[in-house]
Amino acid sequence: MSKTSSETWSERFEEGLHPFVQNFNASIGFDITLLQEDIDGSIAHARMLGNCGVITFDEADQLEKGLERIRLEAKQGSFQPGIADEDVHFAVERRLIELLGPLGKKLHTGRSRNDQVSTDLRLWLRRRIDELDLLLERFQKALLLHCEDNINTLIPGYTHMQRAQPLSLAHHLLAYVEMVNRDRERLKEIRQRVNISPLGAAALAGTPVPIDRRHTARSLGFSDICLNSLDAVSDRDFVVEFFSFSSLVMVHLSRLAEEVIFWASEEFGFVSLTDRCATGSSLMPQKKNPDVPELVRGKCGRVFGHLQGALTMLKGLPLAYNKDFQEDKEALFDVVFTTTSSVKAMTILLEEGIEFSHARLASAVESDFSNATDVADYLVSKAVPFREAYQLVGGLVKQCIQQGILLRDLTLDDWKKLCPLIENDLLQKLSPKEVVAARVSEGGTSFARVQEQINLWKGRIASRDT
Ligand code: ARG
Repeated sequence: MSKTSSETWSERFEEGLHPFVQNFNASIGFDITLLQEDIDGSIAHARMLGNCGVITFDEADQLEKGLERIRLEAKQGSFQPGIADEDVHFAVERRLIELLGPLGKKLHTGRSRNDQVSTDLRLWLRRRIDELDLLLERFQKALLLHCEDNINTLIPGYTHMQRAQPLSLAHHLLAYVEMVNRDRERLKEIRQRVNISPLGAAALAGTPVPIDRRHTARSLGFSDICLNSLDAVSDRDFVVEFFSFSSLVMVHLSRLAEEVIFWASEEFGFVSLTDRCATGSSLMPQKKNPDVPELVRGKCGRVFGHLQGALTMLKGLPLAYNKDFQEDKEALFDVVFTTTSSVKAMTILLEEGIEFSHARLASAVESDFSNATDVADYLVSKAVPFREAYQLVGGLVKQCIQQGILLRDLTLDDWKKLCPLIENDLLQKLSPKEVVAARVSEGGTSFARVQEQINLWKGRIASRDT
């Protein structure tokens, strides 16, 4: 006969749980996600018990085989825990006892579900971190491909959403490569703190059983062990850190998403969306909607919400384990899923969802006053103090607007009226291409600098790959 979790309690209990409470208490509905890691952790624990002579090698072998059998049963669909099991840890233990009889009852020697759940969570998150890092790299590569194709493509640069100065489109996209790089740096650092083993801290105080915590840590690939048993079972900082990292990833994705959304509008027309990544309207036949970036932008809310939720759940919790911690799981699964799928969706959008409209971009940079700063800079080169040059050009722009013309429509005579020091060479310097090419300061948008940045990123990414 299999026992329910409340029948697993010691003989101190006489009555079963109220059915509603049983449901309310159970986490099996979601922590079954941790099954692989729970089995991995239990195998490492069993082997260590064998190694330390707490159980025999033969017993350790049998426990390992039983646990692998449960893994197989889960794969084949015959291991289906229910509410009666309460959580994944009890479910696996219950099945192990069914399979092995009294020997199965030895697995839990020298550990508790408190160190077990934190171990499972860390192992699970470590895997997801590695997958996410690969996806972030693919996202960077997709950006870099557009950069390489668009060094000489110009796009208006904005501040305050007002036309400011023209840019190389590659330069604009490289800004996102930088953001993602910071995300990856943060992720790497978080991984180091995730990758510490709490296993063997037992319920809160350690155990008199002669275990070897470093043995389990090593076999599970952890780089170290948590040094304080109370902290080991009650630390969820890594969850908060991961949520904070994810929130910033979502911020970055949503900024690009927002740009793609307005670039794809009739008003901008800087990109067109391919059929692969756009949707239609059920009513208006002419429409092509940017659902992918809109969804990514919208999904920020739940990720930021989980960050707030986790901080609030942890605030004021006394040491050590409290059941409140059970609330970390659904949030973590949702944040991982949402962030991972958003990175993937935006990558696919870059890979095959958008096409830059070169003609539209070229005409956009021709038709504004975003070369006004360059006139001021020119005057500075003729020894006019910058503030004076700035005032002069401001007045000129005002006159042009009144006459409905652009700076390029002015003749040399007009320019000389502004300042007699102006020569013919100014006219050529005002073309958007020249304006961009001139911004040669390090990190600037000149074509040469942009090429330099692309080379740098390609090199960095290639060296990480090897
Ligand atoms: N399901 C529990 C959780 O997610 C596992 C740990 C339970 N520990 C306990 N002492 N009740 O946190």
